[in-house]
Amino acid sequence: MAKVVVQFTCSECGATAGRWLGRCPGCGAFGTLVEELHGSGGRHSNGAARAPERLGDVEVSEAARLATGVAELDRVLGGGLVPASLVLVGGEPGVGKSTLLLSALGAVARSGRQALLVTGEESVAQVRLRADRLGGAEDVSILAETELESVCATLERERPAVCVIDSVQTLYAAELGSAPGSVAQVREAASRLLRVAKESGVATILVGHVTKDGAVAGPRVLEHLVDCVLQFEGDRYHAHRVLRAVKNRFGSTNELGVFEMTSAGLVGVPDPSALFGATRAGEVGAAVAVALEGTRPILLEIQALVSRTDLAMPRRVGTGVDPKRLAMIVAVLARHARVPLGSADVFVNVAGGVRVDEPGADLAVALAVASAQRGVVPGDGERPIACFGELGLSGELRSVAHPDRREAEARKFGLTPVISPDSAPTLRAALRAALPAQPRARAA
Ligand SMILES: Nc1ncnc2c1ncn2[C@@H]1O[C@H](COP(=O)(O)OP(=O)(O)OP(=O)(O)O)[C@@H](O)[C@H]1O
Ligand SMILES: [Mg+2]
Repeated sequence: MAKVVVQFTCSECGATAGRWLGRCPGCGAFGTLVEELHGSGGRHSNGAARAPERLGDVEVSEAARLATGVAELDRVLGGGLVPASLVLVGGEPGVGKSTLLLSALGAVARSGRQALLVTGEESVAQVRLRADRLGGAEDVSILAETELESVCATLERERPAVCVIDSVQTLYAAELGSAPGSVAQVREAASRLLRVAKESGVATILVGHVTKDGAVAGPRVLEHLVDCVLQFEGDRYHAHRVLRAVKNRFGSTNELGVFEMTSAGLVGVPDPSALFGATRAGEVGAAVAVALEGTRPILLEIQALVSRTDLAMPRRVGTGVDPKRLAMIVAVLARHARVPLGSADVFVNVAGGVRVDEPGADLAVALAVASAQRGVVPGDGERPIACFGELGLSGELRSVAHPDRREAEARKFGLTPVISPDSAPTLRAALRAALPAQPRARAA
């Protein structure tokens, strides 16, 4: 008889322990270990030896990518969905995951291929309401089902071109005994769907919720299993949403898709620079970063506020920038450019609710902070100042990838000259070129 083993699994990182612990030994989170039952069936398979193939002789019949019809989604996927792949789409509640994927399914169905939506969260009627709002999704097949076994069996029989599971946390394998959404259930669902996807050639998209720190809920093991992890970001106060690839076996990560949420669904924004880089001329504490997301240069407006504080530990608050990076930039400004920030709070914001991870945006953050501290308008006062470059710890500016493409993007919007590591080798030189109030300065 199968023996049932009790194990405790961390719901954050998937680490297991034989007994309950208050703190996870894997990731250090408190109170995350939950009890799970594992059947140790003791089934042995008699593996027979098989002859490996020569890689050059492998037949490639399914290389063609499948365009989803949502251009920004295709871009992030690296040119469309790869047949038989498993994609995980994560995002906070209400960000628009179901909306995006229903539009994609609608477009796939309109192109004459079967598109299946397995909904575990919303009823068929609720999805119909959304479909009416979006329009053009009448041909999508829909199945309201949470039992993993039936979902897999349906996929094997129907063999749709694309299947969306909304969401993986609602799927339930009866034999596991634990609640839907638990680590064991999510892991089981993902690995079974992976097998079905590979065997039946179904491009499967899993919707996953994110935890409070923004990671895709369920164990990280899910991220290892799937071929591609997409993160859908944006806050509810902005209409803009950003889709980025965290992991992609078939394309570049860093690729960025920008959408705007409208009453008719998510509309792709093909030219995000005009949206996020729009700075008014003559603004104190603002600079335009020419960042590169994947293959696409994008202008981002960075704003900074510096205000005197009586706090013993002044605040460095960044929205859309990494706090560690901001602390470093503030330190480099103080040490190498003599911008006194020791008794001032520094706030930095990237316009439009966008997050920028790229080191090429360092210089724009530094210029915005220095401009705010000195209270002077960067540049000639007629146009905003555009810049890019990574800041080194000794105050030098380091070159970043594709300077020509970045310059071309800035030129397209009339933001020239661009301050870059080529024109200013150090932070001090960049400040001199950008901020006219410097004693030896000349307006750029
Ligand atoms: N009529 C409308 N006009 C504009 N925006 C709308 C309208 N209806 C819904 N929305 C937007 O759609 C969002 C919900 O989208 P959706 O249900 O796709 O999100 P989700 O990520 O699937 O959420 P959940 O995690 O709850 O499933 C809402 O937050 C809202 O911003
Ligand atoms: Mg949803």
